[in-house]
Amino acid sequence: MDVPPRVTVCDVGPRDGLQNESTPIATADKVRLVNELLAAGVPEVEVSSFVSPKWVPQMADAEEIFAAIERPAGARLIGLVPNEHGYARARAAGVDRVELVIMASETFQKKNVNMTVEQGLRACAAIARQAASDGIEVGLALGTSWGCPYEGHIDPARVIDLANAAIDSGVHTVSFADTTGMADPLHVDALLRLARRTIPLDRIACHFHNTRNAGFANVLAALGQGVARFDSSLAGLGGCPFAPRATGNIGTEDLVHMLHGMGIHTGIDLAQLLETSAWMESVVGHVLPAQVSKAGLAFPELARS
Ligand code: COA
Ligand code: ZN
Repeated sequence: MDVPPRVTVCDVGPRDGLQNESTPIATADKVRLVNELLAAGVPEVEVSSFVSPKWVPQMADAEEIFAAIERPAGARLIGLVPNEHGYARARAAGVDRVELVIMASETFQKKNVNMTVEQGLRACAAIARQAASDGIEVGLALGTSWGCPYEGHIDPARVIDLANAAIDSGVHTVSFADTTGMADPLHVDALLRLARRTIPLDRIACHFHNTRNAGFANVLAALGQGVARFDSSLAGLGGCPFAPRATGNIGTEDLVHMLHGMGIHTGIDLAQLLETSAWMESVVGHVLPAQVSKAGLAFPELARS
């Protein structure tokens, strides 16, 4: 099987993970989490979101976190934004990249951002135009790409049309997101095959949740299509406040361990990541789902690649 020699891992735990913790996490702990991820060599971190604090109170301290982070050279800090107001806040906070989000499912889109998909696309185009003149990169997460808990199956042609429209409006990278873990590897393979017809590989990312334990099989399917950008969250933190019973992203340590085992370079120090993962479990006060933090490395040489 041909797989990419190198993968860019984006840890979304501080945002996708912590937005779903019912106990409030101190801003200082969030800052420490981001700093430790960056220090372990994670090249991209989704730090927080610039959304309405009434909708997601856990993310109300986005500006404070950005102001406190130690930013190593080359690291890319991302803020999720739902609308132009969020974009203005993110730019003022000094993000390197904004991640917009549109759900392929109309029902989920309404529940998540109180907009139609069409309104989301219009906001996306306006933000992409502004960001181009500000020198800020724009990514778009296409949520529910492989299924929606409210609408069920999502037509892959619709997902690809949305992805193409976003690319045409100036979005740099489209991240196909399995928001509530409904994908299977063949479905992943099929959608990415379609995506590759119009979107260059280096502008495609995947965002898998491990809700039904197919997350890593889905990563393998995406690697097989040449995708080399993946989101994951340390310790498997996460969920979605607008999806019933959603659980976490694939765990960063599990993803990195698997990639290193396959000889794929990530630049991440796994031993350091495991220390941060253990600390994070003590911060949230409950067991988190990632496995390598419990089992340890299969072989010591997998710590780095
Ligand atoms: N950041 C902070 N406040 C914002 C905001 C933003 N990006 N966008 C809007 N607001 C404020 C408005 O100023 C207004 O404040 P007020 O009540 O004090 O006047 C209030 O929120 C309502 O604004 P409105 O435009 O009517 O928003 P809405 O209630 O329709 O909600 C969103 C729209 C997009 C702001 C909201 O749905 C949201 O934040 N969703 C994010 C969901 C999320 O993070 N999901 C997980 C990630 S995928
Ligand atoms: Zn997610």
